[in-house]
Amino acid sequence: MHPMLNIAVRAARAAGKILVKNFDQGSPVEAESKGLNDWVTDMDKAAEQAIINTIKKSYPNHGIIAEESGTQAGEENDFQWVIDPLDGTTNYMRGIPHFCISIALLHKGSVQQAVVYDPMREELFTASRGAGAQLNGRRLRISPKVELKGAILATGFPFKMKNRTPEYLEMFSKLFEHCADIRRAGAAALDLAYVAAARHDAFWEMGLKPWDMLAGELLVREAGGIVSDFQGGHNYIQSGNIAAGAPKALKQMLAQIR
Ligand code: IPD
Ligand code: CA
Ligand code: CA
Repeated sequence: MHPMLNIAVRAARAAGKILVKNFDQGSPVEAESKGLNDWVTDMDKAAEQAIINTIKKSYPNHGIIAEESGTQAGEENDFQWVIDPLDGTTNYMRGIPHFCISIALLHKGSVQQAVVYDPMREELFTASRGAGAQLNGRRLRISPKVELKGAILATGFPFKMKNRTPEYLEMFSKLFEHCADIRRAGAAALDLAYVAAARHDAFWEMGLKPWDMLAGELLVREAGGIVSDFQGGHNYIQSGNIAAGAPKALKQMLAQIR
């Protein structure tokens, strides 16, 4: 394993330990509002701190872009760690055991190493650029033959941007007509990891942030899938609008939503 991926895995496991230990204690989880339907709990912050501490121990000069504590420039800012310490906060708060930690390492803006870790199921999704994607060490491969017809898609609803509901529902209805079924599980990074693992054939969501997408993006690509914005371009980190999936299915999906 690449030494930087090894550190990402160590950091994700440290955060996972904290999240699992404090999961579903029977009393409501305290949360602060960051915006419409957008929450942060003490566990998001504790998990993030554990990740940053682990990274800083080995790479004190790298930059950090973390969801809850923001951006810290480093002396070696060509390397940046992009962190979502708890993807699926709403699930976590409600005692729904579907959430993950997402960590991506960028070098000069391109993702080199990726970890998405589901600590409840102990599923570790990893990828290194050019070296493939794995789930618990087993190589992941997306079939080039999968089509939209018969596909299981995953999505996220635009719950923080209700003004975009009509636009979203139009896409939903076009895609639903042509695929087998659609899932909304509540953790975008895991949705992407599930595409890499061929549990979902494709995924789309609007308005995501870099820490929701970057690790999952590399997982999907290294498993043989395609990642794009809704126009089939590369603008998903800027726009937050992402589509990812098996190559053929994704092409057919974009033809419906464009
Ligand atoms: C959210 C989850 C959710 C997606 C949201 C994200 P968070 O991340 O990934 O599935 O629909 O858009 O913001 O806030 O739980 O880290
Ligand atoms: Ca997230
Ligand atoms: Ca989060």
